[in-house]
Amino acid sequence: MHPIQMVDLKKQYHKIKTEVDEAVLNVIESTAFINGKPVQEFANNLSAYLGVKHVIPCANGTDALQIAMMALGLQPGDEVITPSFTFIATTEVIALLRLTPVFVDVDPKTFCIDPASLEKAITPKTKAIVPVHLYGHAAPMDEIMAIANKHKLTVIEDNAQAIGGDYISKSSEKMASPAGASRRKTGTIGHVGTTSFFPSKNLGAYGDGGAIFTDDDALADKMKMIANHGQRKRYYYEMVGCNSRLDTLQAAVLNIKLKHLDEYIKARQSVADFYDRAFANNTKLTIPYRASYCSHVFHQYTLVLNDVNRDGLNAFLAEHQIPSMIYYPVPGHHQQMFEQYETAKVSLPVTDWLTERVISLPIHTEMDTEQLKFITTKVLEYVNR
Ligand SMILES: Cc1ncc(COP(=O)(O)O)c(C=O)c1O
Repeated sequence: MHPIQMVDLKKQYHKIKTEVDEAVLNVIESTAFINGKPVQEFANNLSAYLGVKHVIPCANGTDALQIAMMALGLQPGDEVITPSFTFIATTEVIALLRLTPVFVDVDPKTFCIDPASLEKAITPKTKAIVPVHLYGHAAPMDEIMAIANKHKLTVIEDNAQAIGGDYISKSSEKMASPAGASRRKTGTIGHVGTTSFFPSKNLGAYGDGGAIFTDDDALADKMKMIANHGQRKRYYYEMVGCNSRLDTLQAAVLNIKLKHLDEYIKARQSVADFYDRAFANNTKLTIPYRASYCSHVFHQYTLVLNDVNRDGLNAFLAEHQIPSMIYYPVPGHHQQMFEQYETAKVSLPVTDWLTERVISLPIHTEMDTEQLKFITTKVLEYVNR
């Protein structure tokens, strides 16, 4: 059996090697390492794929969030509401910009921000909401946009884990695409969307990368400027910005991988289907929920364990060369980083409950049936003991 990994990037690379090698060599030959032609080509291709007006490439998904927040012109102490149950980057950038992260609870089924907790956390200082489409499942954007519109708040979707996902709206006009359809790509529903091209992401580069999306011309212009040292015209700096670029080499790789994104998503969904079939009837395991309003793109396949020793399962799987991961072992509001924030001293029972019970199994585009049978057999062997 081929060794099992959380993500098998090597096997995936070998399937597109000829194309990738040629594109990478072309960049080297051109020596246009910074802002070479593939960068704008990729921005255009991604914008067409997502159905969004502007795509601004940048250095990574953390910068993407930071640039988006810088562009909103928020003042120190302004509050930004976000789930605590997410990767640290989402909340870290809020604090980095001297804004106040306000941690709210998630829905136990979707693992995404809970609209009721969100609305309760709004104060006169609230300026923005950052929903996260965690593990590849969309947050309930209809409800979030309705709350945001009611309170005049900006929504930045952290789409690092859900690129390529579809969101099917119930109604809201913000959802209507130019063609009038109610199906939109995640990351294009809020005022701004951000993503990461970290190698293990569903659309991963061969190094770091990120992007920001928006339909808002003025915001796009400002974010482009911020990502480029605050300059529009060379050597004339209008505001404090940063240096955040997507490398030409990464753009060249991403241009190729973008063509395969839908097929990569299907492969991940088939892995999830296999796991679901194996685990669905086991009372000790709760399989990932799939809301009818979105297509789950399965960046992670995450089970909730019911009365199972998680460390024991993790160790048992490791003994059989099956990796498994806990995303995330400590939620944001319990991190030392935020201990001086009053807003971190909140009770988030669902977040705490999930943090102790979730476990993610290997999922990627190259998994075969032999590996899946082995993993599911071993998981069931342990939980049925
Ligand atoms: C939800 C979420 N937000 C933000 C990021 C940050 O992306 P990057 O690692 O490219 O900075 C990640 C990636 O790890 C993520 O999963």
